[in-house]
Amino acid sequence: MTGTLFTNISQLVTPLPGVQRGAAMRELTVIPDAALLVSGGVIRWVGPRSEAPATGAEHDLGGVAVVPGLVDPHTHAVWAGDRLADFEARVQGVPYEEILARGGGIRSSMRATGAATVEELVRLARPRLQALRASGATTIEVKSGYGLDFAAEIRMLEAVHQLQAEFGLIPTLLIHVPPTEGRSEYVEAVCHDLIPAVAKKGVASAVDVFCEREAFTIQETRAILMAAKAHGLDIKLHADQFHAIGGTELACELGALSVDHLEASGPAQIAALAGSTTVATILPGVTLHLGLPAAPGRALIDAGAAVAVGTDLNPGSSPLFSTQFALALAVRLCRLTPAESLTACTVNAAAALGLNDVGALAPGHDANFLALHSADWRELPYVLGGNPVRDVWVSGRRV
Ligand code: NIG
Ligand code: FE
Repeated sequence: MTGTLFTNISQLVTPLPGVQRGAAMRELTVIPDAALLVSGGVIRWVGPRSEAPATGAEHDLGGVAVVPGLVDPHTHAVWAGDRLADFEARVQGVPYEEILARGGGIRSSMRATGAATVEELVRLARPRLQALRASGATTIEVKSGYGLDFAAEIRMLEAVHQLQAEFGLIPTLLIHVPPTEGRSEYVEAVCHDLIPAVAKKGVASAVDVFCEREAFTIQETRAILMAAKAHGLDIKLHADQFHAIGGTELACELGALSVDHLEASGPAQIAALAGSTTVATILPGVTLHLGLPAAPGRALIDAGAAVAVGTDLNPGSSPLFSTQFALALAVRLCRLTPAESLTACTVNAAAALGLNDVGALAPGHDANFLALHSADWRELPYVLGGNPVRDVWVSGRRV
């Protein structure tokens, strides 16, 4: 067989390919003294070194553990301006939702982002994506949603498009907060103008909505998600962040790829997710940064749901520039086991993006993998604030 055989791998660790629900999230394959055969950017074979097929080139990885490249299924990595004044107010007791209701928060990021050119947005986003990738992310979802108007939303998606090939980006159109006046006309225009234009340009693969008291109602959310489906786009939702107003149930009913946040989810929302194909994406960086309750990760898995984890990198609720750190936080704050957390950040995060060829070390998957500093993969969920990832490989090439 031709290709490159990666050898001297102390442990090759992978979840099973495809979305994993409930207890199956803990079923990792661990191969000691392993090898990995790559050709044409794709994994062709994995197994014990002693059984590896003969091949021309060999690459010695130095006796460390290898895991799949991480998938970050939820970021807002494109923005301009900052939220440092909000942060000072929040730590002195002003709630996030109150800052938003006063016209700050997300709305202040919209003013700064709406005024930026595509080139500025690309320049600002690149180092953030480099940080996520150095932490292990080889596939990263990026949302729009800070556009003041439709032209600004398209500029955000164009910035994502310019960075797409370099970082393995998956673009999502986010309908984030309604205007303070004329909201029914706005929702109408989103459905009849923005979504068709975005679908026609091919600049987003999914549509997301922030369904919350301070953002879109259930009726508005339903109209937007139905328009997205009618134009052949996948759907996902920000729901149950502060209040469970029915967004999770709606997303499950409409077959959304994922529902994200879930900090305020209770038994009804957990049961809806467990009984659906929708992935439950939890975002522990928000819990850490806003000091709010954690999403019920443990209860979701115990009920049989498929849980994914993301950074939610954004300037307001989660300034978290490490996908590995999100994985490690899910263990501490949402009570996932280390094995569940790896599954949540790989195959399940891929499923939250509608992808099935990334996230596992298995024949036919893209050769996206991480060589750690350590011989034991469990450093990945363990380390806080350092980087246990030594090097990152995308399609069989070191990046
Ligand atoms: O996922 N909750 C809504 N949207 C983002 C926050 C964006 C912001 O605060 O700028 C989130 O948390
Ligand atoms: Fe978000």
